[in-house]
Amino acid sequence: MWQTAIIVAAAVILEVVQLHQSKAQSQDAIRFRGGAKHPKTPPLPSVTITPTELTEYHRDGFVLKKGLLQGEELSKLMDSAEEIYATANHQKDANLPNFFKKLTFDLWRRKDEFAQLAFENLPSVAAEFLGVGDAYEMINNEDNNNNAHEKEETIRILKDGFFGFQQKNNTGCGFHVDDKIFWPASYETTGVNFWIALSPMRIQEGGGIRVVNQSKVEPIFEECRQAITNVGERGYSPTCDMEEVSPECHEKMLEASVVFDMEPGDALIWDRWTFHRSEPFRPVPEGERSEEHQCDDPSAGADGDDYRLRYTIRYVPGKAKAWGRHHPSQVTGETFDSPYYPQVWPSVLKSEMKSIQKGLED
Ligand SMILES: *[C@@H]1O[C@H](CO)[C@@H](O)[C@H](O)[C@H]1NC(C)=O
Ligand SMILES: *[C@@H]1O[C@H](CO)[C@@H](O)[C@H](O)[C@H]1NC(C)=O
Repeated sequence: MWQTAIIVAAAVILEVVQLHQSKAQSQDAIRFRGGAKHPKTPPLPSVTITPTELTEYHRDGFVLKKGLLQGEELSKLMDSAEEIYATANHQKDANLPNFFKKLTFDLWRRKDEFAQLAFENLPSVAAEFLGVGDAYEMINNEDNNNNAHEKEETIRILKDGFFGFQQKNNTGCGFHVDDKIFWPASYETTGVNFWIALSPMRIQEGGGIRVVNQSKVEPIFEECRQAITNVGERGYSPTCDMEEVSPECHEKMLEASVVFDMEPGDALIWDRWTFHRSEPFRPVPEGERSEEHQCDDPSAGADGDDYRLRYTIRYVPGKAKAWGRHHPSQVTGETFDSPYYPQVWPSVLKSEMKSIQKGLED
């Protein structure tokens, strides 16, 4: 998203902050379901994706999946999210502009509950959206030994991100497709993003996410992508500033987009090239506030710190090539081959899991 020079510099500071945290935390190895040291392979399917949902995804660039996460799994993630929101302090330390109050990456290798989500719950779902063959056929088909083919049929974690979006001080990010910081893979490769609500999100209150129906913006896609990618006089890409750099694109995106009421655990699943933006908060008159955000709601504290939490995790096919701001262990322009971008489908790799268990340094 944000490619300003300031942000790039700030992000470096941010990573130093994270370095200290991760060193402290990497003592405790990630543990999976049942306390196992490795995720069960092949990962178990967690939810059913219908043919209609797949059709919608391919036509519109996104699909809303209600209740993707539920039960204890979800409540653990929500508790963890509240803790991260309360304790992480990245933006302030890094002096970032006020897009989001809390932003942190790499939870999949820092926290058990996010690791379970990233390695166990979602890979089989990602496989369906990325169309990497019939999941179950693959697992059962031992003859599938053609290397080139195999490469096509793997999936890796590209990146995750936790966002705390605060009503008072934050602007969020305008319509954009992810830039080279948030999507460090080459342009020609595809991918799928799971955007998961960890707070209730109400259309009338704002604070959620808006996605653009890609079937309606095909003719202007490239022009609008260029508008927020071209560096121009500023010296940086105005990833979050479409409204300012191209009011026309902004208007058209607004017309072609939708926003949903979402419960914690609901997910928007979208394609790597789907435009989206943070939905600004709206002042809601006292009497019309939804129940979960009445004054006894923890997300609307006494200081008026009303906020919405979300987690996003992005997966790419094994043939995706690294590009942009990726980890130094990975060669630019080559297919991903680093525990920082671990294979999760059809199985994890022992060597990568070993490195992850040891605790990856930043
Ligand atoms: C997206 O737009 C198409 C028409 O281009 C429409 O058929 C479809 O219902 C829209 N999808 C959503 C989720 O609104
Ligand atoms: C908003 O930002 C200002 C200035 O940085 C800070 O003093 C204030 O505490 C913030 N408000 C909340 C609710 O966090």
